[in-house]
Amino acid sequence: MNMRSVDAGQYEHIPVLCDEAICQLNIRNGGRYVDGTFGKGGYASRILEEASCQLFAIDRDPMAFAEAMNLSKRYGERFIPLQGCFGEMDSLLAEQGTAKVDAIVLDLGVSSLQLDDPSRGFSFRFDGPLDMRMGQDGPTAGDIVNSMAESDLADLIYTLGEERYSRRVSKAIVEARVNQPISSTNALAKIIREVVPYKKFGQGIDPATKTFQALRIYVNDELGELDRGLKAAERLLNTGGRLVIVAFHSLEDRRVKNFLNERQGKTTGRSRYLPPGKDDNKRPSFSVITKRPVRPSAAELKQNPRARSARLRVAERTSAAPWSELN
Ligand SMILES: C[S@@+](CC[C@H](N)C(=O)[O-])C[C@H]1O[C@@H](n2cnc3c(N)ncnc32)[C@H](O)[C@@H]1O
Repeated sequence: MNMRSVDAGQYEHIPVLCDEAICQLNIRNGGRYVDGTFGKGGYASRILEEASCQLFAIDRDPMAFAEAMNLSKRYGERFIPLQGCFGEMDSLLAEQGTAKVDAIVLDLGVSSLQLDDPSRGFSFRFDGPLDMRMGQDGPTAGDIVNSMAESDLADLIYTLGEERYSRRVSKAIVEARVNQPISSTNALAKIIREVVPYKKFGQGIDPATKTFQALRIYVNDELGELDRGLKAAERLLNTGGRLVIVAFHSLEDRRVKNFLNERQGKTTGRSRYLPPGKDDNKRPSFSVITKRPVRPSAAELKQNPRARSARLRVAERTSAAPWSELN
């Protein structure tokens, strides 16, 4: 199936932790906001309904962007869809003549629109081409599994998938691709299932889950994007502006937590007896609002089991200069 032939409307995406995120954004009339991960527009419509405000909605996925163009018919000039990566959100907004906003939300990861479309190759639940790209450029997951050296592949699967059987998986992949390139999600999942044990008593996840996660994160440079997005948000937010982030796995959540702790000044505790250092001009640029991450309620989990690993963190911008602009 060609990606362009898919009607975005046929896939349902239930927004995760939406009430909590909207509440934390402090939306008001006349405010300017960024939704850096538009997806199917669940958060975006709620923001636009909440007050007479302006919303910049970013997504790197052309299908999500097409969906956003539909929404712009309803909200007119209040809604500005932008195709691109949230790691570059300050440049994307600068092109629109906007340097500052009042809140930013990032709902990380993939949408059901992507996950449930076999032609995108994100899921081993359907057979499809090994693609996994959210945007349209760069190597596909198939390019990676068919060309990367065995030890690099093992490292990738270990670090980005936290897969303890990563060496077995990479060995099996390299052995299989000698005969013919691995080109489909089903073919890759079969290779993995032969070497990674299923947990007993049917309680565990599919053995292919962690390797698929690792490949998706790598193909889309999701951790690099997150790092760039956090710094861009620091530059874009007005004093008092909120940053709300929903993460779906510990690699992302830990990065968000560490960034906010650092920007709050928690990790730069220097002895006052030391001579002045290069970090001394860094005043806290964020104040953390959620000491612990907000998790979905039992009621939300019942309605949407995909929300189970979601964690929401919120921080408020202080008046300090962005650290990324200091030496
Ligand atoms: C979990 S979905 C967001 C769902 C959305 N909150 C909703 O209510 O429909 C994540 C979306 O973010 C997009 N995305 C992920 N990383 C991105 C990035 N670095 N830049 C721009 N968009 C990104 C994906 O293409 C996907 O459409």
